[in-house]
Amino acid sequence: MEQIEKIRKQLEQDKEKVTDLKSLNDQRVAYLGKKGYITELNALIKEVEDKKTFGMEVNALRKEFETFYEEKKQALEQLALEEKLVKEAIDITLPSKKIKRGSKHPMTRITEEFEDLFVSMGYTVFEGREIESDEVCFQKLNLPKGHPARDAQDTFYLKEEYENYLLRTQTSTAQVRAMEANQEKGPLRIVCPGKVYRRDEDATHSHQFMQIEGLVIDENVSMADLKGTLELFCKKVLGEKTKVRFRPSYFPFTEPSVEVDVSCFKCGGKGCSLCKQTGWIEVLGAGMVHPNVLEMSGYDSKKYQGFAFGTGLDRFAMFKYGIPDIRTIYGNDLRFIEQFDRLEDTK
Ligand code: DAH
Repeated sequence: MEQIEKIRKQLEQDKEKVTDLKSLNDQRVAYLGKKGYITELNALIKEVEDKKTFGMEVNALRKEFETFYEEKKQALEQLALEEKLVKEAIDITLPSKKIKRGSKHPMTRITEEFEDLFVSMGYTVFEGREIESDEVCFQKLNLPKGHPARDAQDTFYLKEEYENYLLRTQTSTAQVRAMEANQEKGPLRIVCPGKVYRRDEDATHSHQFMQIEGLVIDENVSMADLKGTLELFCKKVLGEKTKVRFRPSYFPFTEPSVEVDVSCFKCGGKGCSLCKQTGWIEVLGAGMVHPNVLEMSGYDSKKYQGFAFGTGLDRFAMFKYGIPDIRTIYGNDLRFIEQFDRLEDTK
């Protein structure tokens, strides 16, 4: 019993000596290790008389040590963590690197504006393809091989094994794709914005530019619907005062075909350099869908009629934002794109 008391006293002193995790572990070895003080007390049990009391006392001492060990360990670990946090602290008062606020590209801006307008009139936005077959880009739009109107739309052709594939020259291809995708061969009302390609390059023509196509098919669709729709479209986009005029024209996929002019928004129709002194600016091609085009995509041209229209989105962006050279639109110069930042806030 004396020995137990001795070791208990010694433990009281040793507890004070523990300053870190290492010295704590040394104490564990010293007390509970193979030759530890408490372990050795256990060995004495054979020699004492009152084994029961002796055993209980040794166990109590072991418990005391274990409690001390666990509590101290937790406290030391917590301390170590706190020290680490202090040492590795990040100074959040340092100013951060500025994140540059992006701005929408003018073409995205104008595309969204047009889409919104047509969606509000019940159209859905249809996605066409940029790589198209000769069949869809021309033949099914009533431009068979050798048709002279193909000359105006020379483009980029794919190599041998894709001989009949090319980069589409017009979003009118979406007319064919939408009609063919419609299993019921019933009414349709779509717009399709997207990139098109041609072999052109100057201040007002780029080898890649954007168009938006519209197609409406239903029973009893007439030229009056076409006129009403496009007049509304031009006024919404260019202002209520805009005058709209329709001129007869020719497109292989429409009959009759028209070209749509608007009164010059720069001079109001008096004549200036933008409208080349005519007072008018041509903005759209349109017409009643040619029966051949309906039939080639599986529609009954006796039951259904349709009207279609197409326009260059770049041209509209150039007019609307006063961009003099189409090439700047695709030049990727941030100084150009940034000018359109927050444009809608100032509108
Ligand atoms: N696809 C024609 C072009 O690129 C524009 C066009 C004219 C589209 C008449 C139409 C249309 O849908 O009916 O020049």
